[in-house]
Amino acid sequence: MEILLTREQIKARVKELGEKISADYSGKGDLVLVAVLRGSVYFAVDLSRCLEIPFVLDFIGISSYAGAASSRGIVRITKDLESSIVQRHVLLLEDIVDTGLTLNYLMQNLRTRNPASLRVCAFLDMPARRIVNIPLDYCGFSLPDFYVVGYGLDHQERYRNLEVVAALKEMP
Ligand code: IMP
Repeated sequence: MEILLTREQIKARVKELGEKISADYSGKGDLVLVAVLRGSVYFAVDLSRCLEIPFVLDFIGISSYAGAASSRGIVRITKDLESSIVQRHVLLLEDIVDTGLTLNYLMQNLRTRNPASLRVCAFLDMPARRIVNIPLDYCGFSLPDFYVVGYGLDHQERYRNLEVVAALKEMP
């Protein structure tokens, strides 16, 4: 494994994002943070601790279909939001935007529920693998094309609890 982002780098950047988001949403009222299960949980917890504005934290669970459907970005909602987002400001928290297919599906789904606004905050952006181009309103770090783990990101459910982000390399 090669460490790409240290604990200190992540902490500093998450704090910056929290300050920016707090300033942008200050006085707007009724912000719902939607964290996508399971990868973005670690990011959502740390980011939400840095916010200086009121918010509701909610979760949406998704799972990809195998095969052709996954390459078209068709995902299944395994756990829906508890809160209504009608006429509320929504900030979707993603762990990583890779092809963009999952984010595209989620944005389309949430938009049909008539939020007052819908923005995205992604912890990691991997633009090299993008298929659907969706502008990211807030982004922690942009990384080159590696398979990364840690800070919520897994490889077959392992490594989510690493406090760093590391590139997973094949054994020689
Ligand atoms: P998408 O390709 O943008 O649709 O990415 C969908 C999901 O795949 C992300 O939310 C992650 O959960 C997972 N994923 C994509 N790239 C990586 C990676 O490099 N490491 C771990 N998980 C990833």
